Amino acid sequence: MVVGGGGSLHVLEAVYERVDGYAVAREERTRLRKAGQFEKTEALQYGEIDFAGFLNVLEAAEPREGDKFVDIGSGTGKAVLLAAGQYQLGSAVGVEIVKPLHELATEAKERFYSQCPDAPTPSNKCSVVLGDSFALTNLWLDADILYCPCTCFTEEMMAALTAQMKHLRPGTRVISTSRPLEVPCLSLTTTLRAKYKRGTLQFYIYTRNAQAAAAAATTTDTEAATDVHKTGAKHDGDGHNSSKMKQDKRAKSANNKGNGTGVKQPTNQPHSQHATRQQQQQPGEGKGGKRAGKKHKNKKGKRGKRQQQEQGSEKRSKMM
Ligand SMILES: C[S@@+](CC[C@H](N)C(=O)[O-])C[C@H]1O[C@@H](n2cnc3c(N)ncnc32)[C@H](O)[C@@H]1O
Repeated sequence: MVVGGGGSLHVLEAVYERVDGYAVAREERTRLRKAGQFEKTEALQYGEIDFAGFLNVLEAAEPREGDKFVDIGSGTGKAVLLAAGQYQLGSAVGVEIVKPLHELATEAKERFYSQCPDAPTPSNKCSVVLGDSFALTNLWLDADILYCPCTCFTEEMMAALTAQMKHLRPGTRVISTSRPLEVPCLSLTTTLRAKYKRGTLQFYIYTRNAQAAAAAATTTDTEAATDVHKTGAKHDGDGHNSSKMKQDKRAKSANNKGNGTGVKQPTNQPHSQHATRQQQQQPGEGKGGKRAGKKHKNKKGKRGKRQQQEQGSEKRSKMM
């Protein structure tokens, strides 16, 4: 796939030079607290990507021409514009629930495309949406690369998230931050510690597994939700940095098996009543910005054992 290159990265840095998503998110949480809506602040802790760091993550997800990229908590839109500016995507969509952050994303998109009108993904294929991602799961099901910045998601949101995974198309890549997604229909392909705006962050990259589709379809949402509670791994990695745009053999294989169609319609599960504070893994700790990653063999038993051993070793630090 044609990649936009350093030019658009340079433009993106300039576009966001005066954008402070952290401050805007903080103001929003303060506003909600003053209004007595403490429970709503739970999932609104803010963090955002570093462009170079997240480019390594995207590379590891092996984007292909025409892929649909979806960010289910897009903040000021950095990940969406990076993906759109670097790859010839079919679409790049970000959903953000906080209006002032969404407004910053809208303005950033305008500035970016005014300076990069010929970006690999055209402006009309790139959108930032104001809304609750968990009420827009139809977007998730359409994704080829689903970015789930779930570092600050509540346990209830994580349960709703993992319950949706079986509805994704086989071959869909799922990127999760800080928290592994232990569901049978996802195969872990890469773990990567990448530079974040503040510190570093652990990324987990999965592929929706065609082979597990039948098993996953029989897994109840409760079972899927329980799985995620068992996890919390940190992976040290080994500096993986994929630079190739490979054809997705897994997707072809999935299609050959006839599993690319017949996606079930999900039950939307808005999460407005979340009240449980999650055990968060947050950026700022780790390897001082050194990128590290590792391709994983899809041997669930071995992986699960390792993840359990590693669970709890992730240090926490503040995003804000
Ligand atoms: C950690 S930030 C990530 C921002 C961006 N994706 C990035 O990586 O740079 C997570 C974002 O998700 C948003 N968020 C939380 N719950 C959401 C929901 N239900 N729907 C949409 N956005 C949500 C938060 O307001 C926050 O901006």
